[in-house]
Amino acid sequence: MVEIAKQEDELRREFYETYLPRVNRELSIDNVLTDYSDGILNGNIIEFKEHISDLNNVLFQALKYLSARRIKGKPIPANILLISLTSKKAWLYHSADYLNVIETPFVGGASKGNGGFVIKDYDRLFEYDNPLDENALIETMRSDVYTRIHLDENCIVGWATHYYELNPSARKADFIGDNTGKTRIIGEIRKPTAFARYIYPYTSETNERFRYLMDKLNDFMQKKDLGAFYTHQLYAQKSLELVRKAIARVPEGNDYVIIDRCAGTGNLELYMTDDELRHTIVSTLEYYEYKVLMEVLGDKATIIPPTEKEDTFNMGLVRGADALSEEYVNHPIIMEKLNNPNCSIILFENPPYADTTSIEHQKEGVGKKSTGWKQSYVVKEMKKLKLGTASNDLGNAFIWSAFKYYLRQPTDSYIVYSPVKYWKVHHLINKKFEEGFAFNRRHFHTNIDACVMCAWWSNEEAESQLKINIHAYDIVNGQLKDYGNLPVEQIEYQYSQKYFDKRSDTNDTDGGIICSKDGTERLVTKTKRVKPKHNDNILGYMAVYSSGFDNPDNMSSLLVAARYDGNGFYLRRDNYLQKLPMFAASRYVTYNRKWTERGRIMKSADGYKAFNRDINNGKINTFLLRCLLFTVFEPQNHMRSFTGSDGRQYVNQLCLDTTHGETIASKALKDLEPTEEESFLLKLWKSIIKQARNTANYDSSKTYGLYQIKVELDTFVKDEMTGNTRYDYPELHGNINSLAKRVKDYYLKEIVPTLFKYKFLK
Ligand SMILES: C[S@@+](CC[C@H](N)C(=O)[O-])C[C@H]1O[C@@H](n2cnc3c(N)ncnc32)[C@H](O)[C@@H]1O
Repeated sequence: MVEIAKQEDELRREFYETYLPRVNRELSIDNVLTDYSDGILNGNIIEFKEHISDLNNVLFQALKYLSARRIKGKPIPANILLISLTSKKAWLYHSADYLNVIETPFVGGASKGNGGFVIKDYDRLFEYDNPLDENALIETMRSDVYTRIHLDENCIVGWATHYYELNPSARKADFIGDNTGKTRIIGEIRKPTAFARYIYPYTSETNERFRYLMDKLNDFMQKKDLGAFYTHQLYAQKSLELVRKAIARVPEGNDYVIIDRCAGTGNLELYMTDDELRHTIVSTLEYYEYKVLMEVLGDKATIIPPTEKEDTFNMGLVRGADALSEEYVNHPIIMEKLNNPNCSIILFENPPYADTTSIEHQKEGVGKKSTGWKQSYVVKEMKKLKLGTASNDLGNAFIWSAFKYYLRQPTDSYIVYSPVKYWKVHHLINKKFEEGFAFNRRHFHTNIDACVMCAWWSNEEAESQLKINIHAYDIVNGQLKDYGNLPVEQIEYQYSQKYFDKRSDTNDTDGGIICSKDGTERLVTKTKRVKPKHNDNILGYMAVYSSGFDNPDNMSSLLVAARYDGNGFYLRRDNYLQKLPMFAASRYVTYNRKWTERGRIMKSADGYKAFNRDINNGKINTFLLRCLLFTVFEPQNHMRSFTGSDGRQYVNQLCLDTTHGETIASKALKDLEPTEEESFLLKLWKSIIKQARNTANYDSSKTYGLYQIKVELDTFVKDEMTGNTRYDYPELHGNINSLAKRVKDYYLKEIVPTLFKYKFLK
């Protein structure tokens, strides 16, 4: 099997080497091999087989690739060439003949399950060992024609992404604008220009068909500022249970109103009855969401603004609908309800999620820059209260303002979707918790498994409410899956408040080097938030910050010298051991990827009294040594040995390479009576270091930890053709992998329970 595959690869390479120079000499094989197909060459998709025995099957495989290309928003070549390499035959088909197949989404690999498909006659057969046919085949491969496809909900996001990549400054109107309402910008989908050769104009008058995707169709600017992550319908339906309970407790004689200031296209309102909708006020900031909202709820609910005016469209936003503006806070439609003592207020919202330090934002590469909303009235008012980092989060501005401006009576309610941090860490509100759910963030148009809380808060001050329970539901195969009750506990202290080593030592000298996160010396840096120090008692630097686990690798570092952007402390020989549980805890979500953990479990120093007491009475020595063993084998321990630009030797002391004598870790671990599992890990390490010494890059003057072996000695090459990685030292590589697997099990079994016990994880 392997031999055959190799043969096919070689023949395919030979084919390209022969014909690419005749088709377009600027193209390399790499340019042609895309999307896991055998090649897209101008307006041709090419599928090779060493020998084609079933044309139907191979054609279907090509059609599946084309189907995937449409979904990704990539042009569909007009020609399909199926090439039998040994018999030198190429069959030509036209993709237009199979548009219905291409416009069907397929699940699973393209090369699987292709049998039983009936095809039309091929357009032409080239027997390319004959010169006439060979020439015609070259001509065909030069052709640059595409089959136009129809836009639907399966592919619109792909084409939008493609469009914004081509036109980074384009706005959503430029892409999906329509000819309805007061602002009639006809977008690309209705009058294709950039994609004129690739797509048919979208002929529906409105964008209602894309209502569940409106967040994903936002342009780059809006993605930064609107924090739109839509709620799955099943979650919307479930959370309505809380709304109904809130309605049920509306006092006798009171009317009620449900307000959703950030309704998007109305997902939360989807399952409301007409009567509930009559009691509902919705609005949203983004213009095309507003239009859909009008279309789906216009005749059922109250909408702000009630109708579109000439000036409603305001650079892609809706004038008068910014929930964080002063104008909105005082909006007469809302004020009318608030000023009525016989009206109960129920806010029901999934506020925009734009924590500027969150992973989504870091991924967009915009960091803290996307701060339009930070200048808003509500955020400015909130900042006056000096709430610290809580004001970095757009969602928090909605939550804070809900209680500040809208809820007035004890039976008023707020049902809100948001990660638990605002209550758990920020202590943004202290209201009575009635009931709540844990939902998986993955079903809010992200691909992150994490916990989002949907909580029903009563407008009453809470007394000693340090722990709440929420009922967890994932969505599996289109149904809610019950995960039982999960506790959420409030956090009082951060690590930095109780555990960071803030001592200075009279022998500390200024100077020395700083490190990048990968453990190497950082020579040039714009951000230098730490003053390098030197002292023989310093063995490294630990940065563990942020209570949550967004971006966990960024927020936990162990380095031989200070991290360039600080956020940590120097590890010193006399007490480094008792600092290691912080590092161990900071790896929690890496080894426990369950959606129920991330976003719910966080780092805390709340157990500091018990921890310090047990340190003093020596009760947890074994646990500390276990944390040390874990640390030496944990690849996020980026301590490396090298000669610094200051001429000093920086030696990784938290590793077990004793080539040059004992390290601090190897000495300390002599006190650990190893269990069977620990002996196994140590034995595996011995093989690894032995194998490492025989690698080409090994430098006998260095002391190697696992990470340094991984990144400097366990070398590999990538096969250009197959994309496969071939390791130069498979035995070493295999042992490193086995160690990682065993370390994970060891961590979960031996370390995690004690981290919870002392509330390093809470
Ligand atoms: C997380 S989405 C929720 C949408 C919808 N309710 C749902 O659950 O699917 C947040 C929505 O808030 C809107 N939004 C963002 N900033 C806003 C603001 N300042 N005022 C009003 N709406 C805003 C976004 O356009 C987005 O539709």
